[in-house]
Amino acid sequence: MFNEERRFEQPIRWAMIGGGRGSQIGYIHRTAAARDGLFQLVAGAFDINAERCVDFGKNLGLDTSRCYSDYKVMLEEESKREDGIEAVSIATPNKFHYEMCKDALEANLHVICEKPLCFTVAEAEELKTLAEAKGKIIGVMYGYTGHQMVHQARKMIENGDLGDIRIINMQFAHGWHSEEVEANDPGTKWRVSPEVAGPSYVLGDVGTHAFYLAEVMVPDLEIEELMCSRQSFVKSRSPLEDNAHVMIHFKGGVVGNLWASCVNAGAIHEQKIRIVGSKASIEWWDEHPNQLSYEVQGKPKQLLDRGHGYLYNEDPAVSANRIGAGHSVGLFESWANLYHRFALAMEAKNNDDTATLEDLWYPDVDAGIEGVRLIEKCVESADNGCKWVAYE
Ligand SMILES: NC(=O)c1ccc[n+]([C@@H]2O[C@H](COP(=O)([O-])OP(=O)(O)OC[C@H]3O[C@@H](n4cnc5c(N)ncnc54)[C@H](O)[C@@H]3O)[C@@H](O)[C@H]2O)c1
Repeated sequence: MFNEERRFEQPIRWAMIGGGRGSQIGYIHRTAAARDGLFQLVAGAFDINAERCVDFGKNLGLDTSRCYSDYKVMLEEESKREDGIEAVSIATPNKFHYEMCKDALEANLHVICEKPLCFTVAEAEELKTLAEAKGKIIGVMYGYTGHQMVHQARKMIENGDLGDIRIINMQFAHGWHSEEVEANDPGTKWRVSPEVAGPSYVLGDVGTHAFYLAEVMVPDLEIEELMCSRQSFVKSRSPLEDNAHVMIHFKGGVVGNLWASCVNAGAIHEQKIRIVGSKASIEWWDEHPNQLSYEVQGKPKQLLDRGHGYLYNEDPAVSANRIGAGHSVGLFESWANLYHRFALAMEAKNNDDTATLEDLWYPDVDAGIEGVRLIEKCVESADNGCKWVAYE
């Protein structure tokens, strides 16, 4: 069960870059970080608009002198204070991630960054090297992986409940952008602009979430080669895709496919992963995150439910269990579980506690690198006539 008694003498002094008023994802970062008292929001460069940043920060209860119009000024000013920030979360549009992560690490801060971590694998590797040199962690906000049933799936696979893994079916295919909504929505507009979003739209925006679920559930998987087809059904989005299909050959004979889309008309989220083994299959759907479908060949389908004693009683699944079965928990708890783990990782890193760090699962910089690599390889394949490309 989750341990709410885990406390630091002082919460980690924490700031946000981006995530300002009206942003899609700022609020869940703040509530997740605040949930267990391990972080305290003390500063922010929340907004591209300076006036709105100060007004917003003030309304969140911050000292206005710590609401900064420019994140670089925040890093500089906070580094002069004895009570300056120790960690920062970056929740801006994608194009800023690399530079902001780099500057924050240079300023000796732990970093939690939104996905995709940056635009190229070379940049991602550079951030990893810098974090190591600075003795800091980078967490990447793959926010669905704090759910208990995702880790139940991982344990079932590890313990052989499915037999040998054969097929991995991944999708995150919503329908919210079936029409050209970006004409009136700045939060979508930047997502279809290559200079801000990077080399892909749906592959990076949603596809990497489903792919990371597979990485968590089957951590030993390594891609050997992949083939991607991407297209823009709303033509003005070209060269960025609003739909993509990826076929994957993993090392050792496992095969997979990934469907990333924002034009799956009528669908709400449709983020699903199905893992097929020689004896049984499991399926998890983020719209019903408290259940995991377990289908043994020749037997009736079972729906496993969060919080029950019949689940594997091991970490990280068990520490993600905040309340007994039957009570609904959701994305906010999943994110809080991740922020809890980011805090423990920061503490372990500060104390050079490598034993704890080796045991502590969280979406780390390697998760970020692999997401960027997936995008890079998919784009390479799709833009070269859907050819199979080796994955290295
Ligand atoms: N993990 C998830 O589930 C998830 C979900 C949604 C978005 N995201 C990611 O979060 C990031 C933000 O997405 P969003 O949908 O919240 O975007 P958004 O457009 O809704 O909000 C972006 C925010 O960043 C601010 N901003 C922009 N440039 C800035 C700068 N230079 N300095 C300071 N603030 C700046 C804006 O003013 C705004 O408040 C993206 O990278 C996106 O991929 C992740």
